[in-house]
Amino acid sequence: MLKGAFPIDSFKGRKTPFYFYDMDLLQRTLEEIKLQAGRFPGFRVHYAVKANSNPEILRVIAEAGLGADCVSGGEVAAAYAAGFPPDTIVFAGVGKTDEDILLGLRLGISRFNVESEAELEVIDSLAKEAGKVAPVSIRVNPDIGAHTHANITTGLAENKFGIFHEELENVLRKVLRMEHVSFCGLHFHIGSQILDMADFVALCNRVNEITAKLKRCSLPVGDINVGGGLGINYQHPNHLDIADFKSYFETFARHLELEQGQTVHFEPGRSVVAPCGTLISRVLYVKKGVTRQFAILDAGMTELIRPALYNAYHRVENLSSSEEEELYDVVGPICESSDVFGKGLSIDRCHRGDFIAIRSVGAYGECMASRYNLRPLAESVFYRK
Ligand code: LLP
Repeated sequence: MLKGAFPIDSFKGRKTPFYFYDMDLLQRTLEEIKLQAGRFPGFRVHYAVKANSNPEILRVIAEAGLGADCVSGGEVAAAYAAGFPPDTIVFAGVGKTDEDILLGLRLGISRFNVESEAELEVIDSLAKEAGKVAPVSIRVNPDIGAHTHANITTGLAENKFGIFHEELENVLRKVLRMEHVSFCGLHFHIGSQILDMADFVALCNRVNEITAKLKRCSLPVGDINVGGGLGINYQHPNHLDIADFKSYFETFARHLELEQGQTVHFEPGRSVVAPCGTLISRVLYVKKGVTRQFAILDAGMTELIRPALYNAYHRVENLSSSEEEELYDVVGPICESSDVFGKGLSIDRCHRGDFIAIRSVGAYGECMASRYNLRPLAESVFYRK
């Protein structure tokens, strides 16, 4: 949404900060995903609920016909409540509790993405007690580094995620011997905010190697889940507001060696919801220092922790002013030095009460909010033209 297109008059009576969701953009994004994935029969998209689990956002995504990718019992329950059919819900996570597993079994979810042998044994025994057979995929750690922030790469050997690819055969033989789990496929995920398609090509190559090896041993492969990770453009939210789903799906279609009828599952989170969300806040104070000036906002790391946690960039715009730009350290009110949205940012001159937009916060914004400093949780506003 262009700076001038925000319905600023409707903001005036509102308590700030709040999350503003451009639901038309979300809708256009979902249509683009369906169009691009729909070009390849067998491609199935499960939205990664962790990126934004706001019930209204979930409802719209479920209505568009995507499946859900969950990482906790709470997310499985939220996805189910929002209308995702259980047979489109996949469930990953290194620390599933017995309660989480029982919930998945009770609802009849599509897949447990199993991350360790110990977890596999627990699923087998809980399924036995429940008189069910649990559908499982094995999450494989492909030992591939994505060129992204160290805290959001997940596919390296030293990460806690998945079963190391060299142990896969043994674990798979074990799954096949178990009575209360049925083997359905392999699951991978290499990281997040990936913009270089070469990283996904590397993943495809590794998947091909692994599946070829299994076939040589006459072991089944099942379907392939390649996880999420497609990045968005945080620099230019106004002009590049939909991620490059075309290149993304084409990369997998071109590089994965698939069998007839084999399905490929995707778990995008950020690319689905990040662009449609904006954090709207007010300038509380402009404070002039000796060498720099601060714009102190009423939003902070409690509403958006990504800059503090990953040094992440989010574009900041002053929606109330079109005066000459000045340099500001844009900071929040929290008692932490890392509560900074950006240093030396060039934005239109700020005054107390100006509305400031922090862009591309639809993913990992609201869902990572906290009540630190006893702040109330911010509300969300859903905007449709
Ligand atoms: N599938 C699995 C198994 C995952 O672990 C993740 C993200 C996704 C899918 C979705 O990835 P996406 O398409 O959103 O990149 N809080 C961090 C991101 C953490 C991502 C964790 N896993 C951030 O704010 O950048």
